[in-house]
Amino acid sequence: MDRPSATERQPEDPGPADDVLGEAAPEGAASEGDASGDDASAGGSVIATRGLTKRYGGGQLAVDGLDLTVPAGSVFGFLGPNGSGKTTTIRMLMGLITPTSGTARVLGRPMPRASRAVLPQVGALIEGPALYGFLSGRDNLLRYDAADPTADPRTRRARVGAALDRVGLTAAAAKKARAYSLGMKQRLGLAAALLQPRKLLVLDEPTNGLDPQGMREIRSLVRELAGDGTTVFLSSHLLDEIEQVCTHAAVMAQGRLITQGAVADLAAGARGRLAVTTPDPGEAVRVLKEQGVTDVVVTEDRVTGEPPERDLAEVNAALVAAGVRVRGFTVERASLEDAFVALTGEGFDVAG
Ligand SMILES: Nc1ncnc2c1ncn2[C@@H]1O[C@H](COP(=O)(O)OP(=O)(O)O)[C@@H](O)[C@H]1O
Ligand SMILES: [Mg+2]
Repeated sequence: MDRPSATERQPEDPGPADDVLGEAAPEGAASEGDASGDDASAGGSVIATRGLTKRYGGGQLAVDGLDLTVPAGSVFGFLGPNGSGKTTTIRMLMGLITPTSGTARVLGRPMPRASRAVLPQVGALIEGPALYGFLSGRDNLLRYDAADPTADPRTRRARVGAALDRVGLTAAAAKKARAYSLGMKQRLGLAAALLQPRKLLVLDEPTNGLDPQGMREIRSLVRELAGDGTTVFLSSHLLDEIEQVCTHAAVMAQGRLITQGAVADLAAGARGRLAVTTPDPGEAVRVLKEQGVTDVVVTEDRVTGEPPERDLAEVNAALVAAGVRVRGFTVERASLEDAFVALTGEGFDVAG
């Protein structure tokens, strides 16, 4: 529980072939312009990948030809079940592992080549913060700050104090980190990411393992940060989380990008279920099926189903013509979950 994990975790456990720390070539050398030749920052995107692919040593294809575009100023949800390649993608974006093929640009610069220029502008929290349990929350942050060669030591205590305040940990700052709850540890990790002003925050499953209260706190913090204009890229395996906090999202499944775009557009792409309220459910089911409604489910006086491609006014007219007394006829708002199911043909199973 109380491992000083900083040394273990950086880099996270990639094999030697994946370890690119310290390998950042001087910029401007080699092929500064990647194959696509576009300047990501000019297009207003903070992250842009082309054909980004990672095959691990064991042959596991973890990320497969990813084309990701994260608009500046967005709260971007990187959504996918466990094992879908989110952390692997984030490690590539942060220059912690090298892609097998493809390119990644962060803040308009190629990664991992431009790591030294890019990373100081990015706050990252990947798979839980690396903390020393035997140090207080404040001392952990002082240590983080001291490790940043660009951080002025004279203003260190003020910076740390402001970061603690930002995440609501001032009162607990003197406590040893090992006494922190999981939510407090996550907040301390966020504080570390916030020591310097950042253009981009990358948070890998920031609410993972938190109780509902802890999740709410992290989510409202994310909203606040986004409100200041910081682009936030956060991964999650929770659909409702993405719907609650994100303006944009990309959906991953088995290493591939299923879709990406504004959350509202993604949900709108999926048709919601048709719901008919009636005292004649039996007859309604018959007519609805005749009209092409599928997956029909009856619960007392409510009949729901997947609407057909045709004008729903005709479906309603058919019900009335058949003598079905209709009390309510609505199409329920589609959710991101509906969109996911429509796109993948499967449920969003997040167990395990
Ligand atoms: N260091 C590694 N070596 C080999 N395979 C890995 C490694 N890290 C992750 N994987 C595999 O790559 C796939 C994607 O994993 P990951 O990126 O961690 O997904 P996610 O973050 O979405 O849960 C999984 O099948 C996982 O088992
Ligand atoms: Mg992960």
